[in-house]
Amino acid sequence: MKDERPDRTARAVRSPLPHDAATLHVTGAARYVDDIPVPAGCLHMAFGLSEIARGTITAMDLSAVRSAPGVRDVITAGDLPFANDVSPSAHDEPLLADGEVFYFGQPVFAVVADSHLAARKAVRLARIDYDAQTPILTIDDALAADSRFEEGPRVYAKGDADGAIAAAPRRVEGSMEIGGQEHFYLEGQAALALPQEDGDMVVQCSSQHPTEIQHKVAEALGLPMHAVRAEVRRMGGAFGGKESQGNALAVACAVAAARTGRPCKMRYDRDDDFVITGKRHDFRITYRAGHDDDGRILGLEFVQYCRCGWSQDLSLPVADRAMLHAENAYHLVDVRIESHRLKTHTQSATAFRGFGGPQGMIPMERVIDEIAHALSLDPVEVRRLNYYRAAAQSAEGGAAPATPAAPLPRDISGQKKVHDALPDDIASRGALGEVVEPAAGRVAASGEQTTPYHMPVTDFILHEMTDRLCQSADYTARRAGIEAWNAQSPILKKGLALTPVKFGISFTLTHLNQAGALVHVYQDGSIQMNHGGTEMGQGLFRKVSQVAASRFGLDVDRVRITATDTGKVPNTSATAASSGSDLNGMAVKAACDTIRDRIAAFLAEKDGVDAATVRFEDGAVITGAERYDFAEAVRLAYLGRVSLSATGYYRTPDIVWDRIRGEGRPFFYFAYGAAVTEAVVDTLTGEYRLLRTDILHDAGASLNPAIDIGQIEGGYIQGTGWLTTEELVWDAEGRLRTHAPSTYKIPACSDRPDLFTVTLWDGENFADTIYRSKAVGEPPFMLGISSFLALSDAIAACGPGYPALDAPATPERVLAAIQRVRAA
Ligand code: MTE
Ligand code: MOS
Repeated sequence: MKDERPDRTARAVRSPLPHDAATLHVTGAARYVDDIPVPAGCLHMAFGLSEIARGTITAMDLSAVRSAPGVRDVITAGDLPFANDVSPSAHDEPLLADGEVFYFGQPVFAVVADSHLAARKAVRLARIDYDAQTPILTIDDALAADSRFEEGPRVYAKGDADGAIAAAPRRVEGSMEIGGQEHFYLEGQAALALPQEDGDMVVQCSSQHPTEIQHKVAEALGLPMHAVRAEVRRMGGAFGGKESQGNALAVACAVAAARTGRPCKMRYDRDDDFVITGKRHDFRITYRAGHDDDGRILGLEFVQYCRCGWSQDLSLPVADRAMLHAENAYHLVDVRIESHRLKTHTQSATAFRGFGGPQGMIPMERVIDEIAHALSLDPVEVRRLNYYRAAAQSAEGGAAPATPAAPLPRDISGQKKVHDALPDDIASRGALGEVVEPAAGRVAASGEQTTPYHMPVTDFILHEMTDRLCQSADYTARRAGIEAWNAQSPILKKGLALTPVKFGISFTLTHLNQAGALVHVYQDGSIQMNHGGTEMGQGLFRKVSQVAASRFGLDVDRVRITATDTGKVPNTSATAASSGSDLNGMAVKAACDTIRDRIAAFLAEKDGVDAATVRFEDGAVITGAERYDFAEAVRLAYLGRVSLSATGYYRTPDIVWDRIRGEGRPFFYFAYGAAVTEAVVDTLTGEYRLLRTDILHDAGASLNPAIDIGQIEGGYIQGTGWLTTEELVWDAEGRLRTHAPSTYKIPACSDRPDLFTVTLWDGENFADTIYRSKAVGEPPFMLGISSFLALSDAIAACGPGYPALDAPATPERVLAAIQRVRAA
């Protein structure tokens, strides 16, 4: 069948195309796990949950549960045929409590029934007796009990922080409580297990990490991984909350399906989702800074206390990333970061957009504002003064940074290859002279500025971005205007803050930085594209389909996006660390280029031309001698027995990281951004509103500006929600009291700033990423810090003191801070 639609090649990469499922989303036709029509006989599941935070189960009477209407099976730890573990790494997370319970809400048993409602009703009939112990709930409890995941604190350091702080003419110090955050994905956790012949299992799941679902299900059923297939078409939001937290449902469904021989499905009720699953880690971070009279930071020390919950989950890399972002955008010579990973009897805190980065960064921004307040300087000036040095020239200016931002790929096959791998534009910029040595343990070249973990920062563009943003947001005039306004406004006070973000891109667990793809070109010229990344609303599938379309010179409609499937692309990493399009875009490009080159070679030979001259553009293949419609070229290649299917593979070059020593080059590059937020506070009630926000964000050469702007808006709002109204409260028994939207307040449309402008920085990534774009999923989340500091700024207008506000800045906290500032 010939595609008669006009060519719209220009609509591939860089085009602001809508999300691939936009129409399905808004019409309600997008299919999530809970919408998949289930086969006849499908059973439904619910977990029975622990009602204490810590203790031993002394007796469990489930007879009433078993005899409840509609109940087909009840499963306890003793019934599990193989592994009782759903942890992503440490094997410390039983699916069902085995004698001991570790948090209020931990799954203890599972009910399998004819309906969702029957399962939920039956669960309540359980009678469980516990020998309760005093739970370790808070950071203070954990420190008192020395309850930890790693022995003693981890320390990353450079220079002599202690000496520099002691010798500095001025000092600021303090401590900050930083709350956690519920993911509140609109689609709750869900899974559906479909038993196959000969014991195989297919799992439909809502997971950022289908390979891990496959792995954990295989372990639980005692099967090799090849007998299990996990499929994810889309998630209705994940935000890190579906990296590991979906394992329990998928494994429970698979075990029940294996026992009953029937399809089994489970979805958490929203309250259960809150109570069972892990959230963002809450932190306490203390800081001690020495600085001079100009606001230059001379020495800095952070001590980070991270509340991890009952199992390890992803807490170590989260806590590592908090350390890796503790300096945010500022060059520190003498710095020490100490990190404590504390084990408590609460939900196991997990990945959440930014992955510890936001928590690590916010005290740094607090330090800058506190210094500015002490010296009566504009905080933006103090920020600029302490920024890393600018990259020699931006990509925009057409010149390379002093050292290539992305050190050249090193191992593979020697120097030749290294140079070949360089894109022409870099080569022509004359950056070829220096082949950068492997980064680990590398001594910085003289004059090079390094992070606290000894990585040179060579792509820093925040000076220019800050200038540009100050201009577009009219920062200086508004700052003066707000001061004047505050002077005559006794009750309402306004505040303004500009905060930058520098966010490291790559998984810090180096081996995860790899991806695979599978591309098929069918004989009618239509294309099916698969890769290991998952779609959670972030637009990954659309972006990668634009890459595929561009490689073939086609319109995106020719490329069919299909569900992520462990049977098509194996051994995938979680779609996380914002690297989905970086990794999968490159893998898909590789697969497409393989097929494209085969078609080119075939047609070149046929037409007697050089294959290198064959072009794929405007829906056609042009050999010089002939111009073939793409479908015609494909048909000829098929008849000529050319393989039209290929895999692609990519691994990020030149990243090396020693997380124990805190040395190396954990990131391929940095993504940058800055936001200016203006807020107004009612000093009688502590209530506030955001008036205006201006954002300038660096997505490199954006693959899709519409999707990227959406990510930036959403990230900023989610970050603002975290730091303002989203408050998690546990009672003295360790019971989460905020487990529904009635008590847990995420931002609504009406909470967004009245004026909200997002602009993309129009530079290219210095690093050789897919079409020189940059990752954009997480970095804008941290722009929400500007909301928090705008509130602090408004409070500071109420009295002489500096408002040492804790997060989230709920109206109650704001009111209390106003009172403290006035009393100072
Ligand atoms: N955007 C939407 N709409 N929904 C999500 O769940 N997750 C965020 C971010 N943006 C998320 C999102 C997180 S935590 C990450 S790591 C990235 O998207 C993952 O996708 P990417 O690597 O393709 O950017
Ligand atoms: Mo995102 S927290 O890396 O899933």
